[in-house]
Amino acid sequence: MSNVTNPMTLTNGSSTTVVENTKVYSSTNEVNDSSRYLTDKNSDKNSIERGAGGAGRGRRSNVVKEVEKLKKQREERRQRQAEMKEEKEALMNVDPGNPNWEFLAMIREYQSNIEFRPIQESDPVEDHQITVCVRKRPLNKKELARKEVGVITVPYKDTLVVHEPKNKVDLTKYLDNQLFRFDYAFDDYCSNELVYKFSAKPLVKTIFEGGMATCFAYGQTGSGKTHTMGGDFQGKTQDCKKGIYAMAARMYSSCLKSPKYRAFNLHVSASFFRNLQWKVFDLLAEKAKLRVLEDGKQQVQIVGLTEQVVDSVEEVLKLIQHGNSARTSGQTSANSNSSRSHAVFQIILRAANSDKVHGKFSLIDLAGNERGADTSSANRQTRMEGAEINKSLLALKECIRALGRKGAHLPFRASKLTQVLRDSFIGDKSRTCMVSE
Ligand SMILES: Nc1ncnc2c1ncn2[C@@H]1O[C@H](COP(=O)(O)OP(=O)(O)OP(=O)(O)O)[C@@H](O)[C@H]1O
Ligand SMILES: [Mg+2]
Repeated sequence: MSNVTNPMTLTNGSSTTVVENTKVYSSTNEVNDSSRYLTDKNSDKNSIERGAGGAGRGRRSNVVKEVEKLKKQREERRQRQAEMKEEKEALMNVDPGNPNWEFLAMIREYQSNIEFRPIQESDPVEDHQITVCVRKRPLNKKELARKEVGVITVPYKDTLVVHEPKNKVDLTKYLDNQLFRFDYAFDDYCSNELVYKFSAKPLVKTIFEGGMATCFAYGQTGSGKTHTMGGDFQGKTQDCKKGIYAMAARMYSSCLKSPKYRAFNLHVSASFFRNLQWKVFDLLAEKAKLRVLEDGKQQVQIVGLTEQVVDSVEEVLKLIQHGNSARTSGQTSANSNSSRSHAVFQIILRAANSDKVHGKFSLIDLAGNERGADTSSANRQTRMEGAEINKSLLALKECIRALGRKGAHLPFRASKLTQVLRDSFIGDKSRTCMVSE
């Protein structure tokens, strides 16, 4: 500062000194300026603090709080994500390599929240004019190899849930669970015996009481209709003892012997035919082609159908075995043993003295209804067959719907199958059971 206040003392020296002094002066000046700036800045800061007072300090801490909150949220989010990733990996490893693992996990999760109450042997059997049951079949080898996921759950004795895998717009996967009610619902581990107990067995007494009964197995190709009606398959051969046909036959034999029905003096006969499009073939007579005609009393008759009197269960089993082997089967992509026609096995009770029909039980293994995809690889004939099968199933459906509406017109002429079953549908004593597969 002395240089500044007394520059003359320096003028006696070299000009360099003066320059230096000037420099010193200016730098001092700069120092002063910057110090003023600092002072000004401080005073500004002070004025902010002064102006805002306590609130200023509060706002700053709010920002800090906000940052801390965000940080905490981020950490929590990361932890959640890590947990989800761990869960996802665990789920993926439940069935390694399954491309449908997400849906599988969702279905398992749904099932784990259900309190299962499946159908039991001891459950009561109700009497309905029309009974509709549903049976789930286990996944077959092909489906298991493709790691397909079973999308059906049977939680209660009368309920079935279909899990439909869906994608949201943002591509997240979810399940659309739809509940369906039936008279009875059977899971994939249920045996043919259990299905028989609740479906066909209650109809046996209808026939002894002078009525008509019909039991259908209905479902898509490969869904297990022939398995239910005709018995388990071992390769191409079928164990007919385990089918509903055989079980019903056994039941007749024991009913006939019971004191309650012995007085009716009835005898039993059986017929077995198949229906393909508008044609009917006798399975007990080398597949002879038969004609279906209406008699003077508007009764539909299959002319020349073999009706064999049977005295023992063994005889009936032989007939079933014979008929099963005579039935032609084709191949669809869903079933290598596909029945390409409707098979009708009838047990007829006649009064021994008058030969008048006392009651008739028709057990029908329908040909599977087909989607285009099931026969897409097949030739033209198979596809035409598929279309005919679907048409006759539609006619059958219309008849059963009309049965549900008392007094409604029965459109039985729409197919040969419904035509030949006409007498089984009409009358107050008729009973129908449909096992959907
Ligand atoms: N409940 C079941 N338990 C075990 N195997 C089954 C069951 N249901 C069906 N299957 C098997 O699935 C395959 C197809 O069954 P099935 O031939 O009975 O089908 P379908 O409904 O008669 O088909 P289609 O309409 O083509 O004749 C068979 O090999 C059968 O053994
Ligand atoms: Mg079949």
